[in-house]
Amino acid sequence: MGFLRLLLLVMVVAPWAVSSASPARQRLAVKRRLKRLNKPAVHSIQSPDGDTIDCVHVAHQPAFDHPFLKNHTVQMRPSFYPEGLNLERETRVESEERASSITQLWHLNGRCPENTIPIRRTREEDLLRASSVKRYGRKKQRRVARPSFAAPEPINENGHQHAIAYVEGDKYYGARATINVWNPKIQQPNEFSLSQLWILGGSFGEDLNSIEAGWQVSPDLYGDNNTRLFTYWTSDAYQATGCYNLLCSGFIQVSNNIAMGASIFPVSSYHGSQYDISILIWKDPKLGNWWMQFGNDYVLGYWPAFLFSYLADSASMVEWGGEVVNSEPDGQHTATQMGSGHFPDEGFARSSYFRNIQIVDPSNNLRTPRRLGTFTEQSNCYDVQSGDNDDWGCYFYFGGPGQSERCP
Ligand SMILES: *[C@@H]1O[C@H](CO)[C@@H](O)[C@H](O)[C@H]1NC(C)=O
Ligand SMILES: *[C@@H]1O[C@H](CO)[C@@H](O)[C@H](O)[C@H]1NC(C)=O
Repeated sequence: MGFLRLLLLVMVVAPWAVSSASPARQRLAVKRRLKRLNKPAVHSIQSPDGDTIDCVHVAHQPAFDHPFLKNHTVQMRPSFYPEGLNLERETRVESEERASSITQLWHLNGRCPENTIPIRRTREEDLLRASSVKRYGRKKQRRVARPSFAAPEPINENGHQHAIAYVEGDKYYGARATINVWNPKIQQPNEFSLSQLWILGGSFGEDLNSIEAGWQVSPDLYGDNNTRLFTYWTSDAYQATGCYNLLCSGFIQVSNNIAMGASIFPVSSYHGSQYDISILIWKDPKLGNWWMQFGNDYVLGYWPAFLFSYLADSASMVEWGGEVVNSEPDGQHTATQMGSGHFPDEGFARSSYFRNIQIVDPSNNLRTPRRLGTFTEQSNCYDVQSGDNDDWGCYFYFGGPGQSERCP
């Protein structure tokens, strides 16, 4: 009993004890990590949002700190694209319900030269906001929504809430979607709101493989409330491997145009202009690497196959949709918004959407999924509604305001 209580006490005070007991050691750890993250730049660009974008030579990017990548030859372009990609682009019909495509805020002040990649510089204060210098750049959450098993619980045990669509029961070699971009309000700095796709492999145990990409607002990670492009990967259910963006070695970037973690600009406004981004992730059938394309024009780079176990072969599930953290205690609900902060039934220009949802099948064809399931833990707080039509193909609206009359 006494021992248990002591253990509990140690667990509670430990994070404080470590950071206040040895400020010198902490400073050293911060300095070391910054040196590892921020590679020497050929050129730097000041973004209006306060970010510094470093143009780093392709061969000097963080990926090459990985022992398995020491002798790696960068593949500057994919050897294969999924079939049906260009076809879809050419046959897209003009429609009144159209959104404009967008890029990144830092482009206002310059571009990175060829053979470099833009990297958002990590600042000392970014590291100091993290729970520890070591955990910076990693998700705290150890769980992904598991629709077919979970039981929509009123409140997920770690406060994570989803409104998603998904496919499972087949082998998947990629996925794409066009997502409109919003700037949801975050109530507490330790909460976040994101819209993304998940490419998942394995059982939902300790060895879950995941590749993720989309947009997020995360005051903890970036120190502001801007909407930012992000990626994530893990091969062990968010434990020891993987990270956001380029905050660890793994992803190999080839694009000199798009910086991961940089602000997206402009964003959609309620009953106003709509802006959306397209994300395609697919597996190179020959070399096995997972590639990512942003919009129609930017091939960002790839996750080498060796990073993964299950995904070295194929994905067993794909999810698309929103996630927020509810950090309110005692059954109360946060007012952190998901998507536009409005429910799906409000429709175009008011609610957040994923459209032209597709998967890559075993024959390397992009196609509309046969059965799209939907899942949400608390539809009175954040909801999802799917549909299909000629213009948008398979789509869904999702999101909500969080704490409100409907969601006390
Ligand atoms: C890289 O190349 C060197 C020299 O050829 C070799 O000794 C080393 O084992 C290689 N490393 C890896 C990880 O393949
Ligand atoms: C982010 O938004 C919240 C709530 O709207 C606000 O309280 C906070 O000051 C903002 N944070 C920053 C860094 O701007």
